[in-house]
Amino acid sequence: MSGKNQTIISEFILLGLPIDPELENLFYALLLAMYLTTVLGNLLIIILIRFDSHLHTPMYLFLSNLSFSGLCFSSVTMPKLLQNMQSQIPSIPYAGCLTQMYFFLFFGGLESFLLVAMAYDRYVAICFPLHYTTIMSSHRCFSLVALSGMLTTFLAMLHTLLMARLYFCADNVIPHFFCDMSALLKLACSDTRVNELLIFITGGLILAIPFLLIIMSYVQIVSSILKVPSVRGIRKAFSTCGSHLSVVSLFYGTVTGLYLCPSTDHSAVKETVMAMMYTMVTPMLNPFIYSLRNRDMKGALGRVFCKRKTLSFL
Ligand SMILES: *[C@@H]1O[C@H](CO)[C@@H](O)[C@H](O)[C@H]1NC(C)=O
Repeated sequence: MSGKNQTIISEFILLGLPIDPELENLFYALLLAMYLTTVLGNLLIIILIRFDSHLHTPMYLFLSNLSFSGLCFSSVTMPKLLQNMQSQIPSIPYAGCLTQMYFFLFFGGLESFLLVAMAYDRYVAICFPLHYTTIMSSHRCFSLVALSGMLTTFLAMLHTLLMARLYFCADNVIPHFFCDMSALLKLACSDTRVNELLIFITGGLILAIPFLLIIMSYVQIVSSILKVPSVRGIRKAFSTCGSHLSVVSLFYGTVTGLYLCPSTDHSAVKETVMAMMYTMVTPMLNPFIYSLRNRDMKGALGRVFCKRKTLSFL
């Protein structure tokens, strides 16, 4: 009631990570190292795929897009967190908060849709190996990436506009390290039912449908392998799909645990730790999961950097 008379707040305070002040410096160094690893690892993948023509296949073009979106996804939250850990008042302006939310949703959604595109690509490669090049034409790949981009633009815009409609009056302390949608909703003075309904619906669209599609394409892959069991076929399937499957479970496991499970029994600490998993750990691990044990990537590493060296000698 009295909320309407108070000033509308112009900035939020981000409480950051729930850690002891004594450990602050240790965590700062750790997070900085993680962020640098994420940036360098993903950049390396993008550069390798860009400059090595052996890797201009749909799978690696999707991987390059995934690396790009992982790089941006962690750049949405990490630099601000690192800056706030060093400042006295860890604040973020209202517009900055909404901008962060928009890009967080955009790159998070993009990552989710790209994982589906990659699962579809593996499905075609293993179930229809003879038609692979015709089905996954460069036009089809481009359409898949463009469609993911458009869908996630629409969803991120929708939620950001719905959030901009709310107004915040009394409390401006966010118990999180970035402008998380659900944390912001808890602070709003106006009615948030429409927002919650749409989060539920589009959360299903962004998480459950991609997850089901991925599971379906893996069921197809496994059944097609079991029809003609051969050691070579099984090994090929595991080497190409194993890495994808581990990224998928890490990403969807943590996000689903957070958004689709009832939030009443989550403490703020637990939510923050789980959010750290998918905002920091998944984008950091992607390059390693895909490049370790991957002969193509190692070959590309040699080709791209040795070619450069010989060129600079000439
Ligand atoms: C993303 O994928 C598209 C379509 O396959 C490709 O043309 C583009 O170069 C990729 N972008 C990046 C940054 O890898």
